[in-house]
Amino acid sequence: MIEQIKRDLTGADAASIIRYIDQKFGKRAVFSTSFGIEDQVVTSMIAQAQASISVFTLETGRLFPETYYVWNRTIETYHIDIQAFYPKTEAIQQLLSEKGPASFYNSVEDRKECCYIRKIEPLKRAIEGYQIWITGIRAEQSQNRDAMDFIEWDEANQIIKIHPLFDWTLAQTENYLKTHHVPYNPLHDKGYVSIGCQPCTRAISEGEDFRAGRWWWEDKSKKECGLHVTHK
Ligand code: ADX
Ligand code: SF4
Repeated sequence: MIEQIKRDLTGADAASIIRYIDQKFGKRAVFSTSFGIEDQVVTSMIAQAQASISVFTLETGRLFPETYYVWNRTIETYHIDIQAFYPKTEAIQQLLSEKGPASFYNSVEDRKECCYIRKIEPLKRAIEGYQIWITGIRAEQSQNRDAMDFIEWDEANQIIKIHPLFDWTLAQTENYLKTHHVPYNPLHDKGYVSIGCQPCTRAISEGEDFRAGRWWWEDKSKKECGLHVTHK
């Protein structure tokens, strides 16, 4: 199936990819948004196509106030349903009771434990039953991601993953936001390029790697939370 989709979509632009997925999969396709600039582009294309693709966000409980703002603006602008997935109450209560609210700074292991509870486990529930998972990943975002493909089989989650903006540059993404009047996270204008949870994200300076502001205290090689495992 992947090979067929790949053949059909090679050279297609992002909006065509979304229309194709909608026609082929409809409600069996799901898009994950963290309300980052790439995700906002995809959301705008889904809305424009009046696609029946489902949309969800992982509400980690540690998001920036600006992220809630753009989440709300997105609903107001596009009138789409965005399913929110929270971490399991028991797991979060246990983590906070045992280790407090800042355990992620202690070690990579503790950080991954928090990411597992707040993102990975809810993700599994969010994509359950779907055949294809759309993300806002761009190849340029990191070396890991550059080694991925615009469509891939996610072995861990047993689902086809597709990244319609895979070949887009940052400038292209920003330009789309502007020309289509897409609401975006105000933090983006303050040097935040990749935005995740508040305690684990900082702004970057000119010339720094796009993902330098994510888990900035950690070794560069470890900067993925496990939502997107690369195989190459
Ligand atoms: S992460 O793995 O480092 O957190 P990143 O922030 O680069 O991911 O986002 C890449 C893609 O993962 C986004 O385009 C989006 O599809 C998905 N994603 C990341 N965080 C979330 C979230 N909190 N909720 C839903 N999807 C998310
Ligand atoms: Fe926890 Fe930070 Fe991961 Fe968010 S990014 S889930 S706060 S460790």
